[in-house]
Formats: sequence, structure tokens, C-alpha cells
Amino acid sequence: MGSIVCNCMMVDEEEIVEVIRSKNVSSVETAGRLTGAGTGCGRCVKIIQQLITENSSKTAEDISLLK
Ligand code: FES
Repeated sequence: MGSIVCNCMMVDEEEIVEVIRSKNVSSVETAGRLTGAGTGCGRCVKIIQQLITENSSKTAEDISLLK
């Protein structure tokens, strides 16, 4: 289990990254609808946005650069 990103909804980083990658999520709203994250106090929205930026737009080329 990854670290908790959203304390209100008890959603961890792994779960959010998983939906971003598998469902091609590109907005905080969609991530929230799918996981519940960010739908409480909103304090974690910035972190969710960052996870989306880091995980959604990677092309195969970007990923190979990380290896
Ligand atoms: S910590 Fe995520 S909505 Fe409150």
C-alpha cells in the first residue's frame, strides 16, 4: 500500500496512479469520481493534480528515458 494522498477518503497514491494509468484520467474531477480522492476537504487536490501530470502524459519514449 502506498502512502495516503487523501486523508478524507483514505485513498492512497497507488490507487490514484492506477486509475490515472488504466482509465487515462486527465483531470482531478475524474480521478475524484473514480476514487473519491479530493472530494472531501480538497486539501489533496494539488497532489492529485501532480500525480496526473506525472503519470498521464507519459509516452513510451518518456518511460524509456526513465529506465
Ligand atoms: S484530503 Fe482529500 S479531500 Fe480531504
